[in-house]
Amino acid sequence: MTARYALHGAVAFITLDNPPVNGLGYETRKSLCEGIERANADAAVTAIIITGAGKAFSGGADIREFNTPKMALQPDLHACIRTVELSAKPVIAAIHTVCMGGGLELSLGCHYRIAAPGAQIALPEVKLGLLPGAGGTQRLPRALGVENALNMIVSGEPVKSELLAMAPGQKLFDKLSKSVETLAEEALAFANEVADKRPLPLVRNLPATHAEADGYFQFARNTVRAVAKNFPAPVKCVDCVEAAVKKPFDDGLNFEKEQFIALMMTPESKALRHAFFGERAASKIPDVPESTPVREIRKVAVIGAGTMGGGISMNFLNAGIPVTILEMSAEALERGTGIMRKNYEGQVKKGKLKQEKLEQRMALLSTTTSYEDIKDADLVIEAVFEDMGVKEKVFKHLDAVMKPGAILASNTSTLDVNKIAGFTQRPQDVVGMHFFSPANVMKLLEVVRGAATAKDLLTTVMKVAKTIRKTAVVSGVCDGFIGNRMIEQYSRQALQMVEEGASPEQVDRAIEKFGFAMGPFRMSDLAGNDIGWAIRKRRYVEQPELKYSKVGDKLCELGRFGQKTGAGWYDYQPGKRDALPSPVVKELVEKHRKDAGITPRKIGNDEIVGRLVYALVNEAAHILEEGIASKASDIDMVYLTGYGFPLWRGGPLCYADTMGLHNVVTDMKRFGSQPGADAAFWTPAPLLLKLLAEGKPLV
Ligand code: 3HC
Ligand code: NAI
Repeated sequence: MTARYALHGAVAFITLDNPPVNGLGYETRKSLCEGIERANADAAVTAIIITGAGKAFSGGADIREFNTPKMALQPDLHACIRTVELSAKPVIAAIHTVCMGGGLELSLGCHYRIAAPGAQIALPEVKLGLLPGAGGTQRLPRALGVENALNMIVSGEPVKSELLAMAPGQKLFDKLSKSVETLAEEALAFANEVADKRPLPLVRNLPATHAEADGYFQFARNTVRAVAKNFPAPVKCVDCVEAAVKKPFDDGLNFEKEQFIALMMTPESKALRHAFFGERAASKIPDVPESTPVREIRKVAVIGAGTMGGGISMNFLNAGIPVTILEMSAEALERGTGIMRKNYEGQVKKGKLKQEKLEQRMALLSTTTSYEDIKDADLVIEAVFEDMGVKEKVFKHLDAVMKPGAILASNTSTLDVNKIAGFTQRPQDVVGMHFFSPANVMKLLEVVRGAATAKDLLTTVMKVAKTIRKTAVVSGVCDGFIGNRMIEQYSRQALQMVEEGASPEQVDRAIEKFGFAMGPFRMSDLAGNDIGWAIRKRRYVEQPELKYSKVGDKLCELGRFGQKTGAGWYDYQPGKRDALPSPVVKELVEKHRKDAGITPRKIGNDEIVGRLVYALVNEAAHILEEGIASKASDIDMVYLTGYGFPLWRGGPLCYADTMGLHNVVTDMKRFGSQPGADAAFWTPAPLLLKLLAEGKPLV
């Protein structure tokens, strides 16, 4: 049983009990309906209360059931809600903590709703690329008013119960309980009060009206289209709410059902659901049991107050955790903390932060030039220069002074974490915490697991990541970890295509149209072209057999490092960030092709996108095979949260599955057989061929 039945006097309580969030899966729906029927059959029962066990009323339809036959098993959610509506005895929803999606839709089928304060009320289906498919778009406008309901449906954002209870004319809540603790008792009293009242009120019988319906829905559609242009669901939400106003209730319900089923099939919904589960799966490490104890993190130290050290520190200050920054000099500390304050002041100016919060956060910050002052920290994150010699000194120092059990983390983006761990006598306490710039903004955190990293350290770091609101993904040790190792292959192809005939603008435009936030050349100009140059120079020595276009090196030889030098792949006007096509670069590229004896050819946008994205896919397959990433969804999370991969495509591997591995491999072979192509580069990773042969997807 996943809905418990119990009598309290003449009132039947049906308690949804399907952890973790009382999702309305088949068994739960079935026992809920059985409960309603049982209460109706029992002459001693006068009213029925539906509530939820644990930390939710209900999080909605059980999303683990999506795309499984169980979802359609009767009673489906529609049938369940109809059973509730048709109950001859009043049904009261006693709502607390979380009431979302199908959970809210179920409550809207009840005759009455009583909510505890602080409950998060939402129809978040749109975040999964769907719309409320069990009457939410038809009933919520009737209960809350058309505009309030549509805002909730297209945003998917939760609203606190007490705020909704204040909405003028609302019929969503009949009562707000004093607290979560008194909810059951107050619901019981309410049930006894309404037990004999007839007729039973139904939300479906309320009107859904809007004085300026045509104009309003057109305006809503235009707004939603502009904001969410790559997602089909929000516009469909508008269509459904319009149907609530313009069609009879049951017709509107059918229309909503059709739209829901159609959306469920879209690649955008598949991608968003993949991202939802991927984010939660990322925190689970296959060989580390969830019961592994965590170390307590009360104080943090950061070594280095540069670009990364400052941003990393802000994450902890924002979460209320005290930070001490250690630097080489008082001047460096002053400069670094000054930038942090400026960042916060920027947020205050934009109205995103209150001045007093700024002061509270900065008050949690202390600075030092002495290791003595940080020895009690529970977690220390090193963000000094990217130089093994400097890291060695720092880690030897840390090893000498830090208390036993302290976590010693490095923010290195390229260096070997095992080697860094080897500078200490406690390699089990060493880990990589690879933040992305700006570190106080970017969601991604690569947690680099060394050969000796302790399991409880990993669970602790994953928990810390949640506290500072990062999406943490575990990576094994390799050059570039997951994200940068893949992006190197993508950058190689970008350069190669410029050499073969595309312009940097064309490459950027094509991949930006595909959905990347920024193309590879604009991105390189932003990050600094010298970074890629340094990596290539290293590769020429370490792996001379690899084919690299030298066109980027020639750009760097001119000192065109990007925005910071006012010129890179594009020209920049002083103080501006607009990337302007550069005649100097055009000439440089043409001369490079001529010198190399390359006759330029026209490269289509499809080829550009294919070569960039499949370069990522192939490297990702190697990363999976080598066990650097433990699951395909981890790789997609890295790309969705750290590299601007379009969310509606679900990440490179989800995208490859959508395209079909057969097509991916065929295209890769074609890219490898074109004149002048790098055939070695385009050799499909064995994992791709294996999955293709087995007819299995990557994700
Ligand atoms: N069904 C099944 N499992 C769910 C679920 C759901 N609706 N919502 C969350 N879960 C699971 C998560 O997968 C996670 O499982 P795990 O521990 O095995 O990884 C667990 O619950 C806890 O989730 P969170 O880590 O997100 O916990 P939080 O406490 O931070 O948040 C929450 C809880 C607010 C409920 C959040 O999980 C959430 O927003 N869930 C999505 C809710 C949603 O989208 N509901 C609509 C479903 S679609 C629908 O109802 C269709 C209908 O209209 C027909
Ligand atoms: P940065 O040059 O801006 O800052 C480094 C700071 O470390 C400087 O303020 C310097 O004074 C200080 N420092 C140097 N040696 C020190 C020592 N022995 N003790 C105390 N402080 C010392 O460098 P940035 O960009 O912040 O990078 C730091 C680390 O983060 C590097 O390992 C880098 O690879 C990594 N990283 C950088 C990213 C970026 O986008 N900048 C992204 C992800 C990681």
